[in-house]
Amino acid sequence: MSIAVKMVDIIKTFPGITANDKINFDVRRGEVHGLLGENGAGKTVLMNILYGMYRLDDGLIFVNGKEAKIDSSAAAIKLGIGMVHQHFMLVASLTVAENIVLGREPTKHRWLLDVGRIEDQIKALSDRYKLGVDPKTVACDLPVGLQQRVEILKALFRGAEVLILDEPTSSVDVSVRAQLLNMFQDLQRDLGLTYMFISHDLSVVECISHRVAVMYLGKIVEQAKTEEIYKNPMHPYAQALFNSIPIPDPTRRRERAPLLGEPPSPVNPPSGCRFHPRCSLATNTCEHEEPPLIDVGNEHYVACFALSK
Ligand SMILES: Nc1ncnc2c1ncn2[C@@H]1O[C@H](COP(=O)(O)OP(=O)(O)OP(=O)(O)O)[C@@H](O)[C@H]1O
Ligand SMILES: [Mg+2]
Repeated sequence: MSIAVKMVDIIKTFPGITANDKINFDVRRGEVHGLLGENGAGKTVLMNILYGMYRLDDGLIFVNGKEAKIDSSAAAIKLGIGMVHQHFMLVASLTVAENIVLGREPTKHRWLLDVGRIEDQIKALSDRYKLGVDPKTVACDLPVGLQQRVEILKALFRGAEVLILDEPTSSVDVSVRAQLLNMFQDLQRDLGLTYMFISHDLSVVECISHRVAVMYLGKIVEQAKTEEIYKNPMHPYAQALFNSIPIPDPTRRRERAPLLGEPPSPVNPPSGCRFHPRCSLATNTCEHEEPPLIDVGNEHYVACFALSK
């Protein structure tokens, strides 16, 4: 299966914070790649780099096998990348159609638009994929759940084949969540789209993803096929994360170690393995050296010294 997006040694810092620290990330065409990790792990920053909203400090991005310079969202869109943002990005005073074609610079090209024709095109797209969006609705009047559909429609209208979905179901209630998830899944399968899917909801990620990566303080600490990582998480942080999924049977208990201590600050993160202060397996080496992401077989990658010894 070919690689749609390859991110190599991505580094992104803000003053005092290394949000992405040498991240390597491959996304296969036609697959859904889940991204998990607690608040501040660097998920949104990584995806914003891919969508051209942040400049990387170092590293390379390849799209469809070719090196890509993504220095703006326009550049990302040209390469077929779309994004459903974690925070509502539509301009409230504009209609759906205007949002879809104008983005966040509405005054710039408004006079050029043949609004009627564009509305027809968007309506046709919405009908074809059963999105239920009326292009004439003003964005501020959109019910919750339709905002995400507009963002999807926007990406499809602009020809996206790779879609970044950053917490697309976190702001909606359970019934809308299920509908949205079904819609994302149907579109992905029908159109052969590639998704990068970020969520804090472990069951949502399990349901939609083919593969999952777990991030911790700017690093990917584990990555594997979904079934594999949910059944057999190896990194102590991933174990603690999956450990937090409630087990419906009260007579059963999970065997894995809980997380120690408080989440660390991203400002001046711990030396060596960034997880070591909270890890029950940490040794002297973990304090001083960074564990590389190692292939442990079956396309399962883990960054932990305790496992390679
Ligand atoms: N524009 C910015 N300026 C300074 N620091 C930033 C900026 N954007 C992100 N950061 C910092 O980078 C780190 C990673 O942030 P990011 O938003 O990627 O986390 P996340 O994994 O998406 O978390 P969440 O699950 O809360 O969305 C955080 O420490 C955050 O404070
Ligand atoms: Mg985020």
